[in-house]
Amino acid sequence: MHYLDNAATSWPKPETVYETMDQGFRQFLSAKRGTSQTSRHGAATLDTARQALADLLNVSNPSRVVFTGGCTQSLNLAIQAFPWKPGDGIVISALEHNAMSRPVRKMVREKQLELHVVPYTDDEPFSLTAYEQLLRTKPNIRLVATMHASNVIGSILPVEEIGRLAKQYGKYYLLDAAQTAGALPVDAKRFNADLIALPAHKSLYGPPGVGALYVGEDVPLQTFMEGGTGGDSGELAVQLVVPDMFEVGTIPMPQIRAMAAGARWVMETGVDTIRRHETRLLQHLLDELKTLPEVIVYGHTDVEQKTPVVSFNLIGQSPKSVGELLFDRYDIALRAGFHCAPMAHQAIGTLPIGGTIRASLGYYTTIEDVDALLEALREITSATHRVGDKDPVITRF
Ligand SMILES: Cc1ncc(COP(=O)(O)O)c(C=O)c1O
Repeated sequence: MHYLDNAATSWPKPETVYETMDQGFRQFLSAKRGTSQTSRHGAATLDTARQALADLLNVSNPSRVVFTGGCTQSLNLAIQAFPWKPGDGIVISALEHNAMSRPVRKMVREKQLELHVVPYTDDEPFSLTAYEQLLRTKPNIRLVATMHASNVIGSILPVEEIGRLAKQYGKYYLLDAAQTAGALPVDAKRFNADLIALPAHKSLYGPPGVGALYVGEDVPLQTFMEGGTGGDSGELAVQLVVPDMFEVGTIPMPQIRAMAAGARWVMETGVDTIRRHETRLLQHLLDELKTLPEVIVYGHTDVEQKTPVVSFNLIGQSPKSVGELLFDRYDIALRAGFHCAPMAHQAIGTLPIGGTIRASLGYYTTIEDVDALLEALREITSATHRVGDKDPVITRF
């Protein structure tokens, strides 16, 4: 199989992640619970894991790294536990994933917030002029919440500028680093990010079911879920201490260890090395797609402004049927549809046509994988050129 769906989840994983996950599950390691030697060892393991994530994100105090059940959970915690007041404003980009957009819209409905969406164009996926105008004219804005890069078109948002302006105007900044943690430098200090949400299973090459939220020292987050922390068991109320107040219930130690192993692997391999490999393949893919007249590529085509995520369509063919054909006939695994981001499809105009076909590359993608896709697309598009083409698999719209 040619696996080109790394924006959904990276595959395969480094050996060290498989081994850590396996050992972590076999070995009894309870953190924050029990009096045994292993639970003490578990607490130390948890500290080491927090340190790995703090190093990755350039965070000075590792206890501000909270482990969660994934990026969606991190975003829900950040957005729903924010101390909203009726009439507060929130700013998001026009490309947000449902993991951001849906909890934001829920808070807008329930807390009577004012929602501002910063306009998108292909050349400027996040209009800094419109954004600054909002910050200048809407003093009720309290939180700016954006993704780092689009999971649909790969466009990288100007997060350093977004964070700098948020700080200048006294707003909190929540960054969704789902598509970038491990693939691009994600730096809490440089981006002036107060909150950073990330998953383990994408560019950190870790397992699913675990993620993290960095919570800056001055962010007054309330609890989102309540439960046992293992440290304040005699109390009726959870003690308001980070990270314990957010890590309620039995935490998934094997997954946390494997997430940290993925983060360490990324840092040892080098984010730059990973990026160089992916960018080289991305350039090749984009150059060759340009030579296929029936292919429309969406968003930036400058590799410096993109993660290795390419959304495209074949003129006159539904993305879903092409996606299925690519898998059934050519053994190429990628995504077709909306990729959980209807806002992005609204922005690029593909909402009415069933979305896009998305190819996304990773560190383990090879040139052969990319060429297999290109060859398949050449074959499919030349088949549709034939007069009286009878291929029943290709559905037109
Ligand atoms: C931009 C973005 N944000 C958030 C998420 C949610 O991540 P998860 O499904 O790992 O919780 C994704 C997943 O695809 C994403 O691409």
